[in-house]
Amino acid sequence: MKKQIAILPGDGIGKEIISSAITVLNEIANLFDHDFSYEYARIGGEAIDIDGTPLPEETIKVCKESDAILLGAVGGPKWDNNPPDLRPEKGLLGIRKSLQLFANLRPVIAFDSLSDASTLKPSVLNGTDLMIVRELTGGIYFGQPSERRKAKSGEEIAVDTLYYSREEIERIVRKGFELAALRRRKLTSVDKANVLESSRMWREIVDEIAHEYPGVEVSHMLVDNAAMQLIRNPKQFDVIVTENMFGDILSDEAAMLTGSLGMLSSASLSANGPGLYEPAHGSAPDIAGQNKANPLATLLSVAMMLKYSFGMNNEGSLIEKSIECVLEEGYRTADLADHSELILSTDEMTNKVIETITILHKSTKMSAN
Ligand code: IPM
Ligand code: MG
Repeated sequence: MKKQIAILPGDGIGKEIISSAITVLNEIANLFDHDFSYEYARIGGEAIDIDGTPLPEETIKVCKESDAILLGAVGGPKWDNNPPDLRPEKGLLGIRKSLQLFANLRPVIAFDSLSDASTLKPSVLNGTDLMIVRELTGGIYFGQPSERRKAKSGEEIAVDTLYYSREEIERIVRKGFELAALRRRKLTSVDKANVLESSRMWREIVDEIAHEYPGVEVSHMLVDNAAMQLIRNPKQFDVIVTENMFGDILSDEAAMLTGSLGMLSSASLSANGPGLYEPAHGSAPDIAGQNKANPLATLLSVAMMLKYSFGMNNEGSLIEKSIECVLEEGYRTADLADHSELILSTDEMTNKVIETITILHKSTKMSAN
C-alpha cells in the first residue's frame, strides 16, 4: 500500500522520537511491502523562529494533502514568555482546529511488566485497559472571548469562555459509544453537571444517544469523582468520554497508571480527513537532544495510525506486541526505570523494538506456512 505521511517533529524531544518512529515505519514498509513517503513540515517553536508563526499555511497544506499526520511535540522555555499568538501550543491548537480533529483517543493500558514503574500498587493496576475519548476542538480551549480586561472598578480581570454547541457534543459522544461498542461495551461520561450548564446539556445528549446503543452500558460521573476513581479502581473503566479540559487533565493522571507519561499514545480524528497521531507527553525540554527520551508513546501512536488511518491491523498489532515483549524482557528507558540495569537510550530502545518486530514477523510467517 502507498501512503503519504506528514511529519511534524516540532520541538524538544520531538525530533528524536520522530526519527525513532520513521525507522520503525521503514521496517514495517520493508516487511509488509508498503510504500510510505514522508513530507516534513514545521510547527510550534521551530516554526515561530523560522516562519514567524507557530502554524505556517504550508504546514496545514501538507497535512491536508497527506493520508495521516505524525507529530512529535511542541513547546519549550525559549517561547514561554511569548504573547499568546506566538506560543508553540497555539500551533497545536491551530492544527487540531483547522483539520477539525474533534475526537482525541488516548488508550491507557497498564502493561504487567511495568507495574513497578508506577507509583500505584500492582494489584490496583494490573488488567487496566481503558480509553479516554476527549473532545478536542471545543470547550474552554476555544471559546470566545478569551482575554484580559479592566473591570469598571479599574481592576484587571481575565475571561475564558466554556462554549459547546449541541452538534459538537453529539459527535464526540457518538464516537464514545461507537468505540465502547467495539470494546467491553461500557461507557462512562464524565462531566461537572452539578455546577456547569454545558455539562447538563452534555448529560442530556448522552442519555438521548444512549437509545441508539442499547448494548452499551452507560453511566455518568462527576469529574472530581472520576479523578479519584481512576486512582482507586481504574479497572472499572472501559471508555471514558469527556470534554476538552477534563480530558486533558484526566489523561495525564491516567498516564501514571501505565507507569510513565512516556507510554501515552494518542490519535486525533476528524469526520473524514486525515488523522493526527502524537504522543501525549509533550516536548520535555530538560532532556531534549540527549538521546534519553522514551520513544514508546510515539511508536504506540504509529501503531494507532497504521490501524485507524490505513487499516493495517496486523502491522499495528506487531508494533504493540513487540513493545510488550521488549518491556517483558526488562528493557527500560530512564523514565521507566527503577533499579533496572537495562536502561536504554532512545536509539537503543528503537533498535530493540525493531529487532523484536523482525523476530515476531518471521515467527508468524513460519507458523502460517
Ligand atoms: C495535550 C497537551 C496540550 C493540551 C497542550 C500542549 C496545549 O497538554 O495534548 O494534552 O492541553 O491539549
Ligand atoms: Mg495535556
